[in-house]
Amino acid sequence: MTTAIYPGSFDPVTVGHLDIIKRAAKLFDHVIVAVLVNMEKKPWFTIEERTAFLRKVTEGIKGVEIASFDGLLVDFAARRHAQAIVKGLRAVSDFEYEFQMALTNRKLDDNIETVFLTSSAENMYLSSSIVKQVGLFGGDIETFVPDGIKDDILLRIKQRSQKK
Ligand code: PNS
Repeated sequence: MTTAIYPGSFDPVTVGHLDIIKRAAKLFDHVIVAVLVNMEKKPWFTIEERTAFLRKVTEGIKGVEIASFDGLLVDFAARRHAQAIVKGLRAVSDFEYEFQMALTNRKLDDNIETVFLTSSAENMYLSSSIVKQVGLFGGDIETFVPDGIKDDILLRIKQRSQKK
């Protein structure tokens, strides 16, 4: 059985993330989407919200599990007996950072390979930060986030902006 970890902040999940999850699920028997709990940058959404959004939008995709982790990614991957870490690459600008992380992870544990999936062309510009910016200023995020979570995301962004 092949197991891959798809790690990230998912603050919040976008259609770009979902595209990578669906494609990874065709390559691996088991895809564990691993949400980082303690991020350096303060997340807008709680760990419960981020995992709940992911659970909702991946319902029905065979072999996909949503989990959260803290600490080193390679330790989590080893605990879950994963052979691979899946990362999505959008543009050249992603490359340097992702390359650095992949080499670091290999240095820490050379049993786990990093596999890069190129983003679909229509999602190349998309990021969680874009979703938050556009939502905050009242723009339409409909095409940026998977079906069924748009209203919850907008509500949360609104609450957050009112708190400030
Ligand atoms: O969605 P993001 O914010 O680009 O995801 C970054 C993530 C979670 C993949 C990365 O920060 C991570 O793996 N953090 C865990 C800590 C770790 O293992 N660091 C060493 C690798 S550089």
